[in-house]
Amino acid sequence: MNPIIKAENLSFSYPGDEESKPVKALRGVSFEIPEGSFTAILGHNGSGKSTLAKLLCMVNLPDSGRLWVAGREITAPDATERDILEARRDVGMVFQNPDNQIVATIVEEDVAFGCENLGIPPAEIRERVDAALAAVGMSEYARKQTYNLSGGQKQRVAIAGTIAMNRRCVIFDESTAMLDPMGRREVMDIIAKLNREQGVTVLLITHHMNEAAAADRIIVMNQGQIYLDGSPREVFGKPAAMWAAGLDVPQTTELAYKLRQKGLDVPLYLFDAESCAEAVAEAVRRRSGKSAGGGKTGS
Ligand SMILES: Nc1ncnc2c1ncn2[C@@H]1O[C@H](COP(=O)(O)OP(=O)(O)OP(=O)(O)O)[C@@H](O)[C@H]1O
Ligand SMILES: [Mg+2]
Repeated sequence: MNPIIKAENLSFSYPGDEESKPVKALRGVSFEIPEGSFTAILGHNGSGKSTLAKLLCMVNLPDSGRLWVAGREITAPDATERDILEARRDVGMVFQNPDNQIVATIVEEDVAFGCENLGIPPAEIRERVDAALAAVGMSEYARKQTYNLSGGQKQRVAIAGTIAMNRRCVIFDESTAMLDPMGRREVMDIIAKLNREQGVTVLLITHHMNEAAAADRIIVMNQGQIYLDGSPREVFGKPAAMWAAGLDVPQTTELAYKLRQKGLDVPLYLFDAESCAEAVAEAVRRRSGKSAGGGKTGS
């Protein structure tokens, strides 16, 4: 499948001022994001995740390197303002703070806002807004006031806004960070559905290892560079590398790692409690089978 985003050697610095030196936030970042994929981006504070996100949705342009969005090279010397505007339509972003993203007082007006800016005819906006609200499970809130919503509901409205704009790729920059566990689950379910059912490419920046474990791929950033890049199974299969970069791994991986040190053969990549418990029970059965001398399990 074609990449929706291709980055080659991207670098970006924030200019300093009288009080601060320039900060080199990204140093030679390269990757391809296939259309329809679900990638989690991990990394400790200041590792460059949000800076990367802002380059990918063209809020900022890189100092050097090349960037393609949906096949257009927006860093090409002959790329016009118009090329960048077109490319911006394909990539949207949902931020951390639900309150900063709501612009209208009524839910459906908020969802329609981006489409209105694109100059889409009113009848089509109506259809898109209804479909987007249904997709995030917020249809019955269409005429409600936005300020009364919970944090999770506000994030769902923000996501509906990006769905209504038919974005091909949505970047979620810690969009669940300010939510309670229930709000977080609701929003994660919607994000997974958006990817699975509508084929939207998802880039999920998160500090929650369990959210990252649900992705197809994990990119780990460290000091403005890509530190690890692979499936959750590959990335969390190297817990020592994650700890060395000051990062966590899912609790089930940490438990499996410690059990392995105690001689129990449990895989590191089972991320839910149920399958982890199953694997531990199986490893215990195998071990007691061996120590009984028969080497067989069950009968
Ligand atoms: N507007 C800015 N001006 C100057 N420096 C900045 C600015 N935004 C970020 N930085 C610096 O750039 C580096 C990368 O920051 P960035 O926000 O991309 O990290 P992050 O991985 O998103 O961190 P976090 O997990 O805290 O959100 C950091 O050293 C940060 O201090
Ligand atoms: Mg950030």
